[in-house]
Parts: sequence; C-alpha cells; structure tokens
Amino acid sequence: AKKVTSSTLLNMKQQGEKITVLTAYDASFAKLFDEQGVEVMLIGDSLGMVLQGESDTLPVSVDNIAYHTSSVRQGTERALVIADMPFMSYSTPEQTYLSAGKLMAAGATMIKMEGGSWLCESVTGLIQRGVPVCGHLGLTPQSVHVFGGFKVQGRSELQAEQILEDAIALERAGIQLLVLECVPSSLGKKISESLSIPVIGIGAGPDTDGQVLVMHDMLGISANYMPKFSKNFLAETGDIRTAVTRFIDDVKQGVFPGEEHSFN
Ligand code: KIV
Ligand code: NA
Repeated sequence: AKKVTSSTLLNMKQQGEKITVLTAYDASFAKLFDEQGVEVMLIGDSLGMVLQGESDTLPVSVDNIAYHTSSVRQGTERALVIADMPFMSYSTPEQTYLSAGKLMAAGATMIKMEGGSWLCESVTGLIQRGVPVCGHLGLTPQSVHVFGGFKVQGRSELQAEQILEDAIALERAGIQLLVLECVPSSLGKKISESLSIPVIGIGAGPDTDGQVLVMHDMLGISANYMPKFSKNFLAETGDIRTAVTRFIDDVKQGVFPGEEHSFN
C-alpha cells in the first residue's frame, strides 16, 4: 500500500475526507491499526499514564519514546509515524534538535510538541533541518500543573483568541499538522477552517479535519476511567479489529465524536 505522507493528509483535508489517528506503543497493535487503515500512528507521551501507570505525562523520557517508536515503526508499513517530544525535552532550540534527532533515528517521520508561539523558532529550525513538525494546542497535558488540572481550554473569548493566534503562528512557522485537545466544538471548527494544514481533534468537536484517540481508551482498557471525549469501541464490537474499523468508519462518516463526546 502507498505510504501516508504529510501531502496525503493535506489532500484529505482539501477533499473533506476525515483523518484517523490512534496512539500506538508496540509493533503488534501498530500492525493491526495499519492493516485496518488508520492513517497516523502517534507514539504519545500518554504512554507514561497507560503503560507506566503514572498520573501524568511528565516523567516520560526521550529514550522511552524512542524505544516505543522503534517498536511501532517495525509494525507499520503504510501509516505516518509521529513521536511525541516529552516534557522538558524541547526547552531550547538546541535541545529540541537533539531530542528530535533521536526520535527520527528511532523511526519517527514527524515529531509533536506542545505549545504556542514560543515554539516558532524551534519549529522553523526543525523544518530547515529536515524534521516535520506537528503542533499541539488547547489542553496540553505537559502543562497540567500550570492549568491546575486536566481542564477544557479556550472557554473564554480571550483564551479562544489566544489559541487561534498560536495556531496561525505555528502554521506560519512551518508545522504540517496540529493536534487540538479539549476545546469547545465552536473553537475546533474555527481553527480547522482558519488553517490550511489538517487539524486533528481530541475532545475538540466533530468539525476538525480528523480525530485521535488513545488506544487504551478506545478499547476500554483504562479501568474505571473514560474521558468524556473518548469512547469504548470494543464494547459494541467484541473484537479489536472490528473496534478499530468501527472507529475509522464512525470518524469518516461524522458519527464520532457526537454531542456527548464534545464540549460547548
Ligand atoms: O500523548 C498522547 O497520546 C497525545 C494524544 C492524546 C494527542 O498527545
Ligand atoms: Na502527548
């Protein structure tokens, strides 16, 4: 099958076809997701929570992400592989290039960083050095202690305007994809319409250019806890392959996310 690239994703946005993204941390799940047709694998620093049992993503290291990235790369033929830059691994441009270099060497095709316009210099520097970048705005979990908890972002007009400005600045700096997490649906729609690059939502409503979920959430593995914006696709299908196909179909047809998974 033909490899998914940043041009593929841009084309999908232009054609109005929704993009599907799942987190993956190992070769076996990556292979299954790839075979079912998920376009992007994200080695998220969510692995700190779902694999390591931590209460947030802050303890995750570049080496942790690199290890799982090489496993996911082994299982992936077609999907684009994006690796998360962990907490405090991109504080300065120089540190950013070193961290990104390790993740690209481990098998990533794009790296993702959380933050607004303060990242622009690093984004441009990475692009110039051959590293594609995905941005991440809204509820950026590495800032959980600044936010005072995992809270919906962009509820006030001022905050919403700030997130939109950051998105535009990052696009200008060169990001080729943007993850937008836990913002009101109206803001998810506005940012997706304002950018030329694809916007992948998680808790950002139905109008973004694609959707991403943490695999443990969409398979109902995370015991006793399901974020409002997620859905257990395994419960209604009974096997993992069908659950992934249902996720893909529901996103493509605009059935997921529904009102009950979105914020107003
Ligand atoms: O770490 C992660 O899994 C993520 C997604 C939730 C977007 O960043
Ligand atoms: Na992440």
